Amino acid sequence: MGDVKIEASALSRSYRRADGAEVKALSAVDLRIEAGQFVCLVGPSGCGKTTLLQIIAGLVPPTGGSMVVNGQRVTGPGPSRGMVFQKDSVFPWMRVAANVEYGLSCRGVPKAERQAAAAHYLERVGLSHVAGAWPRELSGGMLKRVAVATVFANGADVLLLDEPFGALDYVTKRQLHDVLLTLWAEGEAGRRRTVMFVTHDVDEAMILADRIVVMRAGQIVDDLPVAADRPRTTDALLLPEMVRIKHILLTHLGLEAAR
Ligand SMILES: Nc1ncnc2c1ncn2[C@@H]1O[C@H](COP(=O)(O)OP(=O)(O)OP(=O)(O)O)[C@@H](O)[C@H]1O
Ligand SMILES: [Mg+2]
Repeated sequence: MGDVKIEASALSRSYRRADGAEVKALSAVDLRIEAGQFVCLVGPSGCGKTTLLQIIAGLVPPTGGSMVVNGQRVTGPGPSRGMVFQKDSVFPWMRVAANVEYGLSCRGVPKAERQAAAAHYLERVGLSHVAGAWPRELSGGMLKRVAVATVFANGADVLLLDEPFGALDYVTKRQLHDVLLTLWAEGEAGRRRTVMFVTHDVDEAMILADRIVVMRAGQIVDDLPVAADRPRTTDALLLPEMVRIKHILLTHLGLEAAR
């Protein structure tokens, strides 16, 4: 067992809707994630995935229980945690390189250092040639590459990715998986980042994850290790163990009757 990086204990979050009704987005969630793990979070729409990521990020406070990251209770956002949002992840009013540098400039990192970090990660995601472009000049897949470069450049060791590739075509998505996994696997000086990746796509979860956490109605209902060797090609999805996991996931999502 590695170090525990993220620990939720009896974590709850309720919302009061405008009509006065109470919505329990999370109910008594217990979850421990080891440093360096790549965890995918799956579950039907509205089951609390984004809420869980927002609590880890410190953007939303829990209404019950606790969230601890790096041994410290989360009380707000901080540079150790970086998030890529479900919707817009790039500032349209900043050029590509400025987007990648932005988090570092907020923290007062000297210009030369942040420019070097932006150049390095833009190169790693294959976008050096558009460093000076505006986001509106880029395709959807390129914008997601910018978001990946940004979250890595910011230096957080916990990466919270909320359906980052949801709207992309299959081929673009697979290319981005390779980009993301390569950056994750090289983990500077053997120090891999811990990743929480939300997706609706069960194939995506199986290609990416060390472990798949399944949520339903604000609770964790399953927790499946994915032991297949890396790097995984789409052929890995045909392994008997992967087919077994896929069946379990589809059953949880209500797409297949339990055998
Ligand atoms: N700010 C808010 N005010 C009121 N209710 C909210 C708020 N944010 C989330 N909720 C409710 O909490 C529940 C969980 O929402 P959440 O966004 O975490 O789900 P999700 O699993 O990310 O869904 P999706 O897959 O559609 O993104 C939903 O019922 C949602 O309507
Ligand atoms: Mg969501």
